[in-house]
Amino acid sequence: MARRALITGITGQDGSYLAEHLLAEGYEVWGLVRGQSNPRVARLPKDIHLVRGDLLDQGSLISAVERVRPDEVYNLGAISFVPMSWEQAELTAEVTGMGVLRMLEAIRVCSSRGGEIRFYQASSSEMFGQVRETPQTEVTPFHPRSPYGVAKAYGHFLTQNYRESYGMYAVSGILFNHESPRRGAEFVTRKVSLGVARIKLGLATELRLGNLEARRDWGFAGDYVRAMHLMLQVGKPEDYVIGTGRTQSVRELVEAAFTAADLDWERHVIADQSLHRPAEVDLLCADPKKARTQLGWEPTVPFEELVAMMVESDLRLLSEGGDPQDSSWP
Ligand code: GDD
Repeated sequence: MARRALITGITGQDGSYLAEHLLAEGYEVWGLVRGQSNPRVARLPKDIHLVRGDLLDQGSLISAVERVRPDEVYNLGAISFVPMSWEQAELTAEVTGMGVLRMLEAIRVCSSRGGEIRFYQASSSEMFGQVRETPQTEVTPFHPRSPYGVAKAYGHFLTQNYRESYGMYAVSGILFNHESPRRGAEFVTRKVSLGVARIKLGLATELRLGNLEARRDWGFAGDYVRAMHLMLQVGKPEDYVIGTGRTQSVRELVEAAFTAADLDWERHVIADQSLHRPAEVDLLCADPKKARTQLGWEPTVPFEELVAMMVESDLRLLSEGGDPQDSSWP
C-alpha cells in the first residue's frame, strides 16, 4: 500500500515542491486546506487529495488526521512573511506557533489508537536572529528578532518537547532561506527577479528595496524539500540545519539579478528607508554538515544559477501575461 503524507501549507512554494517530490516517490499525498474558495486550492493537481482543516482549530486537525491516517505529517503552514508578523503578531503566534501545538496534539491523540505518525516541523533560521555564532548549527542558541521568529522558536522547542515527553517521531528542519520561481512576490528574491523582468520588458523603470546590507544563505526550494523527506526516513528522530553554507548580501543578490538580464542595477534600484524592519536579522549562514553526513543531503543549485533561473522564469511569465501573485503551483 502507498505511504500517505499529509501536508499543511500545500498551496505555498514548499508545499508544491514537496507534494511533487512525494508523488514521485509513490506517496498518496493529502493537503490540509481551509476551504475551496482559495483559487490556489482550485489549481492543485487532481492527484492530490484534500481534507478540510485549519491550524487555528484543534478539533478540525484531529478529524483531519483521523480521516487521512497519514504515515507522515509535514507542517509547512504558517504566516511566513516576516514583516507581517509585526502587524499581526497575535495571529502569527496563533498560526505559526500554536498551530504546531494543535497539530502535535492531533497526532498524539490519533496515534494513541495505533500506528506511528511521523511529524516534520518547518523550523526557520529566523530563530537564530541576532546570531551568537557563524555559521549556525543545530546547537547555536536562538535570539529571534521578529514575532515570526519567536513563534517559530516556540514550535521548534515544542516539537523537541513532544519527542522527549511522548517518544514521538517528531523532528524540525531548521531551514535557511530557500527560493524558486514559485516564491511569493513579497519575498526579496522574487521581488528582485520580478522587478528586473519588469524593467527589462519596459514595464517599470525603478525597484524600491529596504536594507541592502542584510546577508542570507539562499538555496533552491526544490533541494530543501528532499531534506524534509529524508529527515523522516532515518532511524532516529533528530533536528537538522538545512542551508548551503554560503552567504550573500541583498546588494549582491540585486547585482546578480540585474547582471543576468544585462542591466545596470545602480540606474534602477532605490534604497527606501521605509522598507527597513523594526529589528533586522543581519547575517545568516548555515553549517549543513550534519545533514550532509547523516542524511546524505546536498544542495545542487548554486546562488548565481538560482538567481538567473528566477529572472529567466519571470521574464517568460511576464512576457506571456502570467500573474506573478499566483505562481506557487506551475
Ligand atoms: N521582503 C523584502 N522586501 N525584503 C527586503 C527588501 C524588500 O524590499 N529589501 C531588503 N530586504 C531584506 C530584508 O530586510 C531581509 O533582511 C532580507 O531581505 C530577506 O527578506 P525576505 O526575503 O523577506 O526573507 P526573510 O529572511 O525575512 O524570511 C524568509 O526566510 C526565512 C528563513 O530564514 C521567509 O521565507 C521566512 O518565512 C523563513 O523562515
